[in-house]
Amino acid sequence: MSSSFRAPKGVSEYVPPRADLFYAIREAFAEQARLAGYGYLELAVFEDTNLFRRGVGESTDVVSKEMYTFEDRGGRSLTLRPEFTASVLRSVLENNLHKGALPVKVWTTGAAFRAERPQQGRYRQFYQLDLEAIGSEDPQVDAETIAIAANWYRSLGLTQVRLLLNSLGCKECRPAYRALLQDFLRGLDLDEDTRARVEINPLRVLDDKRPKVREQLAGAPLMADHLCPACKAHHDRVRELLADLGIAWEDTPTLVRGLDYYTRTTYEFDHPLLGAQSGIGGGGRYDGLSEDIGGPPLPGIGFGLGLDRTILALEAEGADFAAKPRCEAFGVALGDTAERRMFALVADLRRAGIAADMAFGGKKLKGAMKDADRSGARYAVILGERDIADGVAQVKDLAAGEQTAVPLTDLTTTLTERLSK
Ligand code: HAM
Repeated sequence: MSSSFRAPKGVSEYVPPRADLFYAIREAFAEQARLAGYGYLELAVFEDTNLFRRGVGESTDVVSKEMYTFEDRGGRSLTLRPEFTASVLRSVLENNLHKGALPVKVWTTGAAFRAERPQQGRYRQFYQLDLEAIGSEDPQVDAETIAIAANWYRSLGLTQVRLLLNSLGCKECRPAYRALLQDFLRGLDLDEDTRARVEINPLRVLDDKRPKVREQLAGAPLMADHLCPACKAHHDRVRELLADLGIAWEDTPTLVRGLDYYTRTTYEFDHPLLGAQSGIGGGGRYDGLSEDIGGPPLPGIGFGLGLDRTILALEAEGADFAAKPRCEAFGVALGDTAERRMFALVADLRRAGIAADMAFGGKKLKGAMKDADRSGARYAVILGERDIADGVAQVKDLAAGEQTAVPLTDLTTTLTERLSK
């Protein structure tokens, strides 16, 4: 019988074996981040609500409709983080990391919270990997961050990830483009909500998925055609650098993102097998965000990759990335003396780096062998009174069924060698 409680609606939870995969892909990312010189941050899970209002932007769905906001016992308004970028920048500034070498290169991971309508690939508690480089305008930093994400997807064995790339301009060129776009949009046949959006956040209208709106957007002016010379040069350089690195992308002039802070380089990683929730990661520059939250001018770029959707993509592609096994050798002991000896042998195997486990509770041979099969181990290590007298254990290959006697003194080296094949 399960308890009378269930996890709250829309919470994405992981239990083994899927949780082992979840952890392993996170570890694979940690390695990519380390190789590129990014340090780890562990951040607050809730923040002053105004950080997100000012950082992410009042006009976004995330802030206007999806935040988990509550008042604490001291009457302060706090919000469970709906994303990481604003928190990362807040922490970098608070801890004066920007007074050291620039860019500040950091990454973090954990749960984020958005009160969305739950469905496959869209949750209210979900998980991101977030990486940010703060304090440099150099387009090499843009390309470096994109490459880290692309390398990670590749290291997982994903082959169908698409990179959609755009530039959203800067505070010099975007206002004029925005006005131009508004003029265009005001002439269309749109419903009331969309007309309101034209006035507040016209770029978002370009992202409308409804066919009736899409048709009318065919002739809309595009930011790409209205970039100032500096933004154009930046964008061209990023594309050249991606080409140098052998990273394929698709120029996507209609790409806009759901958060307000973006400037210049913006991109999304998309997976064609995931249906409506195909955005498996996204990021871009946010050169004005520091000032928006009361900090000094400090350009930045980074991304957030959705762990939940990445797992779904791995499953959809049938990619063979696997977590390291939790059990490689399983001890089966027959009798009290053997059990005590096995307990120490298992500890020895673990010290030697072999994932080892054993049957507990004085199980008989049949029950213990069933546990061995269930454990997923490649080998069972069987020990009876006779074996102890002979100074050996029986090592059974559980797939092939072959069994050999191995001297107890050689057990660790023999298993290490066999498991490495
Ligand atoms: P975002 O596009 O809002 O960007 O989220 C990044 C990724 O998180 C998405 O591509 C998606 O895979 C995943 N995600 C978002 N919402 C959900 C959800 N409700 N359920 C499951 N997965 C979800 C950001 O959050 C920015 N902070 C990224 C960034 C970092 N930009 C610059 N630096």
